[in-house]
Amino acid sequence: MDGLLPTVARAAQIVGHDDDVRILPEEVAALGRVPQARMREFAAGRTCARRAMRALGLPAAPVLIGAHREPVWPRGIVGSITHCPGYCAAAVALERDLAAVGIDAEPHEGLPAGLLQAISAPAERTALEDLPSGPLCWDRVLFSAKESIYKAWFTLTRTWLDFTDVFVTVHSADGSFHGRLIERAAAGKTAPAGLDGCFVVGGGLVLTAVTVARVRPLRSGVGDR
Ligand SMILES: CC(C)(COP(=O)(O)OP(=O)(O)OC[C@H]1O[C@@H](n2cnc3c(N)ncnc32)[C@H](O)[C@@H]1OP(=O)(O)O)[C@@H](O)C(=O)NCCC(=O)NCCS
Repeated sequence: MDGLLPTVARAAQIVGHDDDVRILPEEVAALGRVPQARMREFAAGRTCARRAMRALGLPAAPVLIGAHREPVWPRGIVGSITHCPGYCAAAVALERDLAAVGIDAEPHEGLPAGLLQAISAPAERTALEDLPSGPLCWDRVLFSAKESIYKAWFTLTRTWLDFTDVFVTVHSADGSFHGRLIERAAAGKTAPAGLDGCFVVGGGLVLTAVTVARVRPLRSGVGDR
């Protein structure tokens, strides 16, 4: 996951089993009573989140749960969590460096019948057919890209985004993708017109990441003309 992120971000991941997964009491309280499998998945995500925060030099702190199931990061931090069978990851950055992060992991296999039609526009599917044929499941890459886009989008706007509200173009040559927002009126004028990300396929997984740089105001002062 690290390779998909800018240097200001840090990621941590768990591949397979990890004996040292930890969850904080505040997080247990926020999660409530859930099946064992969900507890394990949640704890793995929070463990990755804390490892990534430590890699940024930040103290361990709870990552709670928002009203829309989003992770609630300690003040000054943005981040994202993903899990799928056998894999879990979290990515974090300081809010002063990045406005949003969205990451997603998926098993590298074709989507179940009918799902591609449900999450894409006809023109997106046509574009997928033009990508190099071979072992890569482009439909899964598209799906994962949209999930990452949603997580970053939600961080920015706190609004819902449907799969068909974004037109995603995948670039096979450099492992990048661009999501053009078709419908963003509800999110207000500050909502981005597009989001960029990148992907990698390996180890039976598709990993995608979207990051949004923080736009810093131009400073006027000595030396400015
Ligand atoms: C929320 C969603 C993106 C999660 O993706 P997923 O593949 O099911 O599961 P992942 O393991 O990758 O991600 C789950 C994590 O996403 C995070 N998450 C959940 N809701 C979120 C939100 N609204 N915003 C940001 N992150 C969110 C959580 O950290 C969650 O893990 P946790 O519950 O253990 O903390 C997905 O369930 C969903 O609702 N998708 C529909 C919206 C969408 O993707 N639109 C596409 C627009 S192009």
